[in-house]
Amino acid sequence: MALDLQGHRGARGLAPENTLPAFERAIALGVTTLELDVGVTRDGVVVIHHDRTLNPDLARGPDGQWVRAPAPAIHSLSFAELQRYDVGRLRPGSEYAARFPHQQAVDGTRIPRLTDLFAMAESVRFNIETKISPDAPHETLAPEPFARALIAEVRKAGVETRTTIQSFDFRTLKVVEREAPEIATAYLTSRRHPYPEKVHAAGGRIWSPDFTSLNTENLAKARSLGLKIIPWTVNEPGDIARVLDLGVDGIISDYPDRVLLALKRGGR
Ligand code: G3P
Ligand code: CA
Repeated sequence: MALDLQGHRGARGLAPENTLPAFERAIALGVTTLELDVGVTRDGVVVIHHDRTLNPDLARGPDGQWVRAPAPAIHSLSFAELQRYDVGRLRPGSEYAARFPHQQAVDGTRIPRLTDLFAMAESVRFNIETKISPDAPHETLAPEPFARALIAEVRKAGVETRTTIQSFDFRTLKVVEREAPEIATAYLTSRRHPYPEKVHAAGGRIWSPDFTSLNTENLAKARSLGLKIIPWTVNEPGDIARVLDLGVDGIISDYPDRVLLALKRGGR
């Protein structure tokens, strides 16, 4: 089967993360899947954003000032309130900006609704991460209403067969599997817990490990358990080549252009 090339947060290396310009860029490059993160606002709108709170490294208020920690939780704001923030540029001088020197700012960009993305992306796949944690129950909806809000959006747009719902918090995945079995799920694991056995035991079929924790041993184990393997977030050319050589089913990158180059060079 062909490699599933996933543009991480759209194409974070090239355009402001989790925004419509980043998704446009990734689609133009030819990704098969857009990776993105979601939260739910106080008034129930599913929005595309990585952090449970506004991020001081990328959000500016209506006065043009960068937000400061502690920043408001996405779930504490209405969608209208959230629209007052500009997320089109990384804060100059921040470590975050230094990590992504090629990201082209698009000032004035707002946090999109999931429905806005569905409206502009007609054939690409979606890998949608529920940003929720048992450690921060007050910052998001609870797992069931969170997963249900997302399922409802996916069904309303009719993109069930083009969608995977992914999470580190397996509770939301169990809700999806129970209530929307037509939508695929992917189980994320961290660098410190790269165990495909746990994913399999939890009922998973797709394992998405931190790529730095992926090796021939745990990959072989995952294969023996019948899991698909889609590591995140592989950005450096040497790492991209190594991960492709391992024989993964997909690869999640902030730089889909680099993955395409590696595929071309490798004659893949
Ligand atoms: O797809 C998984 C990956 O996106 C998880 O990391 O923090 O970038 O959401 P994060
Ligand atoms: Ca993510």
